[in-house]
Amino acid sequence: MEQTLILIKPDAMQRGLAFEILSRLENRGLRLAGLRLLQVEQSMAEKHYAEHEGKPFFAGLVSYITSSPIIAAVFEGTNAVSAARQSIGSTNPTEASPGTIRGDFGLEIGRNLIHGSDSVESANREIGIFFEGHPVIQWEKDTEKWVFE
Ligand code: RTP
Ligand code: MG
Repeated sequence: MEQTLILIKPDAMQRGLAFEILSRLENRGLRLAGLRLLQVEQSMAEKHYAEHEGKPFFAGLVSYITSSPIIAAVFEGTNAVSAARQSIGSTNPTEASPGTIRGDFGLEIGRNLIHGSDSVESANREIGIFFEGHPVIQWEKDTEKWVFE
């Protein structure tokens, strides 16, 4: 099954929205396969956001993601990458549809609450960063025949 890497960013942690947001992905039918509470260090942030190095918002992005503990999660399911991105909504919360996580809880691009991998390759790379030395568990839920055909 496809996997995606989700980060509950510092603003969502500070605002007490972590489990509200994780619930939305769980309720969608995606299966939780890994979960960590961690403090992101500068080097980990720079590795994760390497594609944005040199952009004007890079320094602010690194300082944002390292400003509080975060939750990293692996979710699995059919088209997990695109399903999660759809539930998350557009990068800028004021362009995100109502009903999406960013559309319901956010207002500014630099406080957009959650990260979701943008491709299967990114997911594999990012799971390697955030779950190195930590378990990602293969399991099945008895109800999954009512979610996965
Ligand atoms: P993410 O990686 O966090 O899931 O977000 P995304 O794919 O929707 O957006 P991406 O282009 O990968 O940007 C990563 C994060 O950088 C911040 N950002 N700020 N000020 C700006 O113009 C700007 N552009 C991007 C956002 O926090 C975005 O989530
Ligand atoms: Mg991205």
